[in-house]
Amino acid sequence: MIGCINHIGIATRDVEQAAENWAKIYGAIDAGDAFDLPEQGVRVKFINLPNGQLELIAPLGENSPIEKFLQRHPSGGQHHICFEVDDILQARDEMINRGAKVLGNGEPRIGAHGVPVIFIHPENSGGVLVELMQKPTGD
Ligand code: CO
Repeated sequence: MIGCINHIGIATRDVEQAAENWAKIYGAIDAGDAFDLPEQGVRVKFINLPNGQLELIAPLGENSPIEKFLQRHPSGGQHHICFEVDDILQARDEMINRGAKVLGNGEPRIGAHGVPVIFIHPENSGGVLVELMQKPTGD
């Protein structure tokens, strides 16, 4: 079923400022420039770790899900955990068969890594929003 942790999503108002803080306090090095994902309503910046990444995410546009999160958590905070799966469609069907709630219309969307992802409702994971991500080829 789920494989490696790919990244941990952290919501923030300003991904550049957050990356500076992770560098200053923890010596964590960012993975390159921030970029926008308009269809998901987020601005993203990755930080590389030896065994995965942090995904800093800020609201983009009016209906961003991150805006709603930040209204509940004004200082920002952990937003989701992302696990790799071998086959996103098979994983989606398994989750539904197990009674889990797949967010949205259930169709995978292209995530920040350019591969399809789905999100599982926090009620299925003790309050944690889970992202499942098709394992990138070439790994
Ligand atoms: Co993510």
